Amino acid sequence: MGFKIAVAGATGNVGREMLNILSERGFPADEVVALASARSQGTEVSFGDKTLKVQNLENYDFSDTDICLMSAGGTVSQKYSPKIGAQGCVVIDNSSAWRYDAEVPLIVPEVNPDAIAGFSKKNIIANPNCSTAQLVVALKPLHDRATIKRVVVSTYQSVSGAGKEGMDELFQQTRAVFVADPVESKKFTKRIAFNVIPHIDNFMEDGYTKEEWKVLAETKKMLDPKIKVTCTAVRVPVFIGHSESVNIEFEKEITADEAREILREAPGCQVIDKHENGGYITPYESAGEDATYISRIREDATVENGLNMWVVSDNLRKGAALNAIQIAELLVARGLIKAKKQAA
Ligand code: A2P
Repeated sequence: MGFKIAVAGATGNVGREMLNILSERGFPADEVVALASARSQGTEVSFGDKTLKVQNLENYDFSDTDICLMSAGGTVSQKYSPKIGAQGCVVIDNSSAWRYDAEVPLIVPEVNPDAIAGFSKKNIIANPNCSTAQLVVALKPLHDRATIKRVVVSTYQSVSGAGKEGMDELFQQTRAVFVADPVESKKFTKRIAFNVIPHIDNFMEDGYTKEEWKVLAETKKMLDPKIKVTCTAVRVPVFIGHSESVNIEFEKEITADEAREILREAPGCQVIDKHENGGYITPYESAGEDATYISRIREDATVENGLNMWVVSDNLRKGAALNAIQIAELLVARGLIKAKKQAA
């Protein structure tokens, strides 16, 4: 007997990708249910070669559902996840609502799989921010080898991270520029077509944005609280794929060649690093792929034991849907969850 899985937010960018990945990876599900708001009730979404009718999350009964993959935003998650968890259904939540709760594990399976054991306090497991997920996949093997002291990250984040509306806005604005229509900004604070915006999520008192804060708080929670992290998060006119320029200072000596070899062997990582035209990855090429790609690995001579690298991944996959499904696979592989129908 397999599991009964619900995808909440199934009509959104990440929810659709969750359905694709569940089907692609042959997750052991007997039944998959698509949920969204009342607005979408009765519409259809694809699941492999089938279509699923979208049901309303608001009045859905989770008592015979095993896992809810939730990607409907923080407010919706705050309202529904505790109730779903109380019905004995494990929520794997893609929003930031639960990530910093001490009773909720925040998991990237390649980085801190053992932390998953604590999920049963609330029956909620948090999926990290998209920029953090790919970052920690690349940092973990290097931290294990040479102990990271400090990381400076600048992100180049695609518009799909801002949901369907973000993608639509880039498309509409690009079209408007070409046909000389007025360019309207609704989702983003400034024009995103042919531009970059150094602002993602809300501003905090210290002048950083919440997105920047998430990268440091989540890296510390998952990898090591002693690592110092600072970040500048930037939205760029790319549809899918987040890129990061990463500067790392280590306690121990490590060469670029050593780092390249370590990352070649590391789970979830793929090194594309030739010192020639095109010998690196761009976000366009990462779209639809599972790996965290690492290019441009080089020594930083301005600090002791420093490296620079370029890290790229599909933000809808490793940064969201894929990681959530890997967490579900980890629950199953470790025998931490039993199918309710089988258990009955
Ligand atoms: P809907 O399409 O019915 O609004 P994205 O981040 O790509 O914009 O997607 C957000 C997802 O979260 C969509 O599937 C959206 O459904 C869903 N969602 C938003 N608000 C609610 C809500 N109040 N209840 C259930 N699902 C919601």
